[in-house]
Order: sequence, then C-alpha cells, then structure tokens
Amino acid sequence: MMRITKPSIFYGVLLLVFTIISCKENKKESQSEMETAKTESTQNPIEETIFGEMPDGTKVKKFTLKNEAGMEVDVITYGGIITRWTAPDSNGAYEDIVLGFDDLNQYLEGNPYFGALIGRYGNRIANGKFSLDGETYTLAKNDGDNHLHGGEKGFDKVVWDGVAKTTEEGAAVELTYTSEDGEEGYPGKLDVKVTYTLTDDNALDIQYEAVTDKPTVVNLTQHSYFNLSGQLSEPVLDHKIYLNADTYLPVDGGLIPTGEFREVAGTPFNFKEPKPIGEEIEAENEQLSLGGGYDHCWVLNNGEEDFRLAASAHHGETGRLLEVYTNEPGIQFYSGNFLDGTLPSKTGGTYVKRSGFCLETQHYPDSPNQADFPSVRLNPGETYSSRTMYKLSTK
Ligand code: GLA
Repeated sequence: MMRITKPSIFYGVLLLVFTIISCKENKKESQSEMETAKTESTQNPIEETIFGEMPDGTKVKKFTLKNEAGMEVDVITYGGIITRWTAPDSNGAYEDIVLGFDDLNQYLEGNPYFGALIGRYGNRIANGKFSLDGETYTLAKNDGDNHLHGGEKGFDKVVWDGVAKTTEEGAAVELTYTSEDGEEGYPGKLDVKVTYTLTDDNALDIQYEAVTDKPTVVNLTQHSYFNLSGQLSEPVLDHKIYLNADTYLPVDGGLIPTGEFREVAGTPFNFKEPKPIGEEIEAENEQLSLGGGYDHCWVLNNGEEDFRLAASAHHGETGRLLEVYTNEPGIQFYSGNFLDGTLPSKTGGTYVKRSGFCLETQHYPDSPNQADFPSVRLNPGETYSSRTMYKLSTK
C-alpha cells in the first residue's frame, strides 16, 4: 500500500494548483488568439500588391477587397479599374463576373473602358463644345463628332493615388486624383475622391466626391461590364434586365439625346418588368439601329428616397442577381454592342459582341448643352456627391 506522506500531499496540491492555473492561462491565450483572428476577419484585411508599371515607371497598385462572405474585388490605381469581382452562384460557387484583363499592358494597349472610372464627363457632349457663363470650352472629339467619357485621356487612363481603409462598413479603397485646370479642355482644377467599399452583404458601395476652384461640369460613373454567367466570353442575351424607368432619352446618329423624353411603354425599351436582353434587341426599331442595340440613357423614376433601386440583372442558370442603387437621375444601359471578339477574355476565348453589359449611373448625356436636363454644373465651394451601390445575391 502506498504511504501518503505530508510532503507528497503538499507537492500533489501544488501540482493541481499549477495545472489549474496553467489550464486557465492556456484557455485565456487561445481565447485571445481567437479574438485576434476574429478582429482580423471582421476588419477584412485588404491586400495591396503591385499590378504593373506604367511606361514612365510609375507603379500601378492593386487592392484586393474581401468580405466575410468570401467575395473579392480587385481595384487597380490605373483608371480606378475593377479588374476582377467574384460572386457566388446559387450553389455558393464563386466566379469572376466582370470583363477585363489580368495584365496592365492589355489595358494600356486599348480597351472599351473595361471596369474603369469615367470622368470628368461620363457619356457624350455634342460636338465637343459647351458654354459656361458666356465662355465656350472646346473638348476632344474622340467619338465621331462628339466628346466621349472625358476625352483622349480621361480618368480611366490616369494613375490615381490609392489608400486602403478598414471601415465599419467593410474593406475600402479610397482613390484620389487632381485634374488640373484646362485638362482635356475642362475649366477648373478638380479634386476627385472615389471610395469603393465592399460590405459583408455582398455590395460594392461607390461614393464619388469632387470639388473645383472654378465653375465646371462633372458627371462621374463606373464602366464595369458584367457577365453574371461567369463565362466571360459568352453573350449576355439571356440575362433579364429590369430598369426602374418610365421614359428614356432617344438619340440622334451620334448617340446624342434629341431632348425628347420618350415613354418606354409598348417599345423594346420597356424594362419595367424584367426581360431578357435578347428578347427584342433585334426588333425593327429606329433607336435600336442607331445604338446597334441598347446604348441609351433611361430616366430613372424617383422613389420616396433619392437613393433607390435603379436597375437589376438576373442570370437564371447561375441564379446570380445584380441590383443597382443610385441617387443619380439616369442610367446608361449599354448591351456591349461594340465588343467584336478581338480582345482576349480572362476565362479563355474572346470578348465577343454583347458578352458584357454596363449599367452606368449618371446625369443625362450632353447635359451641358441641354437646358431642360438636370444641371451638371459644379461651383467653387460646393461638393459634387454621387453614390451608386452594386449589390449581388442569388434568386
Ligand atoms: C459607353 C457608350 C457606348 C460605348 C461604350 C464604350 O457605354 O455609351 O456607346 O462608347 O461606352 O465602348
């Protein structure tokens, strides 16, 4: 029989106390490890890498925004371009849903504004001319007789400053750019800030801000081409589009609005109920032939709030649903008519005609020359402020 001596009881108790204490410590440690991991993941760390180099040696950064759900959005400082955006289908499989490239040189070689920030003026200005306070300003005619998307070197072709931000709403990147007085013919030095925030409910919230030192015109937008099938080289004609608009702006041969607000009811331009892009795109219609398909601005209905649902797109097979919210008065729905299969797709094949569609929130095209359209004028002392949210889910 084992003899229990006083010293061994003492050591036994000591061991027990020690074990209890060290267990508690361990627990504390692993709890705090868990806490760190959790803080890290709720703060959604933003990866920052170098995407490429401009011909003059300027480095182009890439920010990867991530959320709790597993969505990822890559934004580069060249043009503020969204180069990759992954979204789940109804089985939870993530795929890239935006057209673009993996390599900076492909963007530099020329492309139709894939994923880019557009400014100073998104869309067209007739004859590359407008007047402000009696002075006429001449802009580049880079689209036939008209000025398009900010000119020869718009905001889509400059390198922005980029700073990663972890906010309560989600991972964000803040892009800033100063457009000098007279740049691309526009008056006033314009300081622009665009913030992309990826929220945990799979929305990319885009906040645009700008201030000027002279009266000028501003109309900023985002030019992502979506293909919710994840097969980026396949036509998007099967996607069902909804547009919250009773009227749209018919255009002339140069795609400049004629000034008329035309009812969509009874025309191929009616998307008040979701309808496949391809359903009427080939219909006999003067406006469809002028645009080579849909390439028009819809006049958004006002909701009870300024920031309202403007549009949606649904891809039945994968279930992916994209909703677009904005406080802008218009949305350009462009069905990718000018894509012609010459540019290589990230997922193999090429970007064929209508392999992507754009939903560009904005003020109406040619507003500087059309007195009946809401004003795009920005005065010193005022802040241009515009917000658009692209939200993904499945249905
Ligand atoms: C916009 C225009 C289109 C076309 C594309 C780029 O969406 O409305 O006409 O210029 O950009 O190809």
